[in-house]
Amino acid sequence: MGAGIAQLALENGHEVVLHDVDEAAIERGRARIRDGLARRAAKLDLDADTIDDWVDGRLAGLRESASLDGLGAEAEVIVEAALEDLALKRTIFRTLDAAAPPETILATNTSALSIAAIAAATNRQGRVIGMHFFNPAPVLKLVEVIRGLETSDETARAITELAGELGKTAAEARDFPGFVSNRILMPFINEAVWALHDGVAEAEAIDTIARLGFAHPLGPLALADLIGLDTCVAIMEVLRDGLDDERYAPCPLLQQLVSAGKLGRKSGAGFFIYQS
Ligand SMILES: NC(=O)c1ccc[n+]([C@@H]2O[C@H](COP(=O)([O-])OP(=O)(O)OC[C@H]3O[C@@H](n4cnc5c(N)ncnc54)[C@H](O)[C@@H]3O)[C@@H](O)[C@H]2O)c1
Repeated sequence: MGAGIAQLALENGHEVVLHDVDEAAIERGRARIRDGLARRAAKLDLDADTIDDWVDGRLAGLRESASLDGLGAEAEVIVEAALEDLALKRTIFRTLDAAAPPETILATNTSALSIAAIAAATNRQGRVIGMHFFNPAPVLKLVEVIRGLETSDETARAITELAGELGKTAAEARDFPGFVSNRILMPFINEAVWALHDGVAEAEAIDTIARLGFAHPLGPLALADLIGLDTCVAIMEVLRDGLDDERYAPCPLLQQLVSAGKLGRKSGAGFFIYQS
């Protein structure tokens, strides 16, 4: 998601600093951004030479930072897209709060976690907000905006405007587990996994039924593979624990796949197999 959000910002003329704890992930991110920009350029009405110039021009706005401390000095907005883990996000926000100027907005791309709990790790709760992009971030037109308990109107306005500038429609949801999007999407995906677990149909048939029957561009199992099965489990655990309702518990088959390292596209296999 970090690479997709960075690509989107670059496409729209922003300067971006990319950070990941894993240097290889930064390299993969840069390669994905380059490919994504080239795909985007191919859709613009440019001739072959200008396409390369356009991509290089956008990439000139991209820098990397090996540390979180080096990230914030000039940033107006920082969008965190690390793993879906509350303790990890709180640690990151504590570091960012110390490193970034006081006016910098700290946004999280969390899928389900409490914005208030993330914000509480900082001394700038008014300037912390949920800015939830959808996958793939350069393509899908929605940003779900979530205020924590203390998020200021000014911060919400700035993030809504930024989403608009990036070509997205912002929709505001309250700070409940999974917000609106994943409260609806994850039970749908989980039910598809249960259908597979119970032998109701093969994976391909389940996805065909959703694609053609409901006019969804991807079936729920392929979508789970795209999101990442580890992320799906993490989101469902937040829903189950936060809403205190076992109907949100992840299907054992989903947990089994994650335990086996089958995380979906990012690991090469999940419900389906992917060539890299
Ligand atoms: N996958 C989706 O479809 C999707 C959609 C919307 C939101 N999100 C949310 O976006 C976030 C990232 O999801 P993803 O699918 O990109 O996950 P991912 O596993 O593909 O990537 C997470 C990255 O975070 C890095 N990371 C781990 N610890 C870190 C740290 N301390 N500091 C900096 N980087 C660190 C990892 O090295 C990895 O490269 C999660 O909060 C997720 O819920 C995901």
